Amino acid sequence: MRQVSIIGIGAGNPDYLTIQAVAAIRQADVFFIPDKGEDKSALKAVREEMLARHGRAGRRLVEFAVPERDRTGAYGDGVADWRGALSEAYRELVRGLGEGERGAFLVWGDPALYDGTISIVQEIQGVELEVIPGISAVQALAARHRIALNRVGEAVTITTARRVRAGEADGLSSFVVMLDSEAGWKRFISEEDTEIFWGGYLGMGEEILLAGRVCEVAGEIERVRAEARARNGWIMDTYLIRRRV
Ligand SMILES: C[S@@+](CC[C@H](N)C(=O)[O-])C[C@H]1O[C@@H](n2cnc3c(N)ncnc32)[C@H](O)[C@@H]1O
Repeated sequence: MRQVSIIGIGAGNPDYLTIQAVAAIRQADVFFIPDKGEDKSALKAVREEMLARHGRAGRRLVEFAVPERDRTGAYGDGVADWRGALSEAYRELVRGLGEGERGAFLVWGDPALYDGTISIVQEIQGVELEVIPGISAVQALAARHRIALNRVGEAVTITTARRVRAGEADGLSSFVVMLDSEAGWKRFISEEDTEIFWGGYLGMGEEILLAGRVCEVAGEIERVRAEARARNGWIMDTYLIRRRV
């Protein structure tokens, strides 16, 4: 059996690392470090800093290139091909573990939320898997805006911008949107009392928070987001949309 830990490292702030995650980092012998290219080298730096602070001497770092998703064809086909390539890369990494070694993936935020590492590693035969939860961008967003995600007894949905664009959120009262590259909040601009709580680079040095009625702040969020993206070459943002009930 090969031992693998999937460790949630929180969504940006090194202080989001839990005591359980620190202990798991200390126990691992080999860390699988994703290389997502120049643009996102800041994310790699966050992982490396955590290892410098908490990893034990003698740990090994194994870098792997994250395959690019083909966005030209149908969404489902692109995702399936990308997942297949990632799965092959993970198998290779796990095969490279020596006898008795524990390998670890440091997963951004919480591994249970919009992340394929758990499901891909579970498909690999002969792996004993441990999963450590992390603070997701959703929790960071709520804390930084000093709000609860739901009002009393209300449901809250976590969804993607692609689904929002397809109209799936139109009947919801509170929902969190992730993976948005196209200012999906503008869909709600004509709703007078609908609010948005938006966060970019949550927990990181560049963190930006904006909130208000969508009809009033939509343009400002779009402008600030575009400027930040141009400055850094990338952006990650998450937002809660809340309708009047
Ligand atoms: C592939 S998902 C990973 C989510 C992650 N597992 C989590 O628990 O937060 C990536 C999306 O998470 C959100 N995200 C992650 N980190 C963020 C951060 N520091 N600030 C804002 N949004 C973030 C963005 O919506 C981004 O598009």
